[in-house]
Amino acid sequence: MKIIKADKLQKKPDFSKLTFGKLHTDYLLEMDYTNGAWGEPVIRPYSNFDMSPMTMCLHYGQGIFEGCKAFRNDKGEVTLFRIMDNLKRMNRSAYRMCMPQFDENVVLEALIEMLKIEKDWVPTLPGTALYLRPTMIATEVALGVHVSRDYKLFIVMSPVGAYLHGAEQTARIYIEDKYVRAAKGGTGEAKCLGNYAAGLLAQYESAQQGFDQVLWLDAEEHKYIEEVGTMNVMFVMDGVVCTPELDGSILRGITRHSIIKILRDEGYTVNEGRFAVDDIIKAAKEGRLTEMFGVGTAATVSPVGVIGYKGEEYVINNNKVGPVAKTAYDRLRGIQTRKYPDKYDWLTIID
Ligand code: COI
Repeated sequence: MKIIKADKLQKKPDFSKLTFGKLHTDYLLEMDYTNGAWGEPVIRPYSNFDMSPMTMCLHYGQGIFEGCKAFRNDKGEVTLFRIMDNLKRMNRSAYRMCMPQFDENVVLEALIEMLKIEKDWVPTLPGTALYLRPTMIATEVALGVHVSRDYKLFIVMSPVGAYLHGAEQTARIYIEDKYVRAAKGGTGEAKCLGNYAAGLLAQYESAQQGFDQVLWLDAEEHKYIEEVGTMNVMFVMDGVVCTPELDGSILRGITRHSIIKILRDEGYTVNEGRFAVDDIIKAAKEGRLTEMFGVGTAATVSPVGVIGYKGEEYVINNNKVGPVAKTAYDRLRGIQTRKYPDKYDWLTIID
């Protein structure tokens, strides 16, 4: 690993005013793949990339990313949450997008080094974190459509606050029945760049009607719940927590997996399955849908207060945050910041 020190550091921001994804720290980590092999990781001062306009990722979208978080508690301890799971999922996405596998331990070691250098960028206030964005792009300079020969893996870091409205306020979600995000056999499960571009028009149109994000339905029948724009989704129906099963077209959320484990340990029944939108709407009308929330790294636990579907709006739990979402967030954040014991072995401690 190579470390190039910065001559000048940025002034730290006001950590009490963080939004999502606008700032970057002083360094970035990068590692290039050429001639069939990865080079060594380099930690260097953050700067723009110098790129040919013919770089393949700019034309054919061969690119993947991850979202992970580091936390700092009031004792000053810095933790990374489930980082190996993120790096492993990135390699899974790489496989689907015909990109090379990397050694997760090499990247983790370099990332820990970078975090040690940038410890002061990890915010401590409730709801804040240092968001890490590992990304891999095709960097061969060519216009033919083929598997790129060259790649760049890089990690940027950004101190962040809430992604939507945070865990203490509700969001408005529109159930999308015109556009689709991903079909069976497609790239829905991979965290690839194009999945997010494909969702933008629906997100834009729903925002025109005052919604924060869209809830996707399955591509074949527009009948079954899949996921929300940037997070997995959970419902509490008839006292049972329900979440769509991993069927190849939804993201294998690491926060999803964590919340399922946490809620089951708290005594809730969590069902992973196929849930029809008509049943959810019926339950909402009959008052049996008592909660809905999104779960994701950026979004953490995002309670939903209103769902829109086919021109109607349905209010959930009087548009208030419900007890299951509250418990899920408290336990998750508590583990991440070591308020509660790390009983699942999810943390990497940075010292
Ligand atoms: C994350 O939760 O980290 C994501 O990748 C969602 C992102 C597109 C904001």
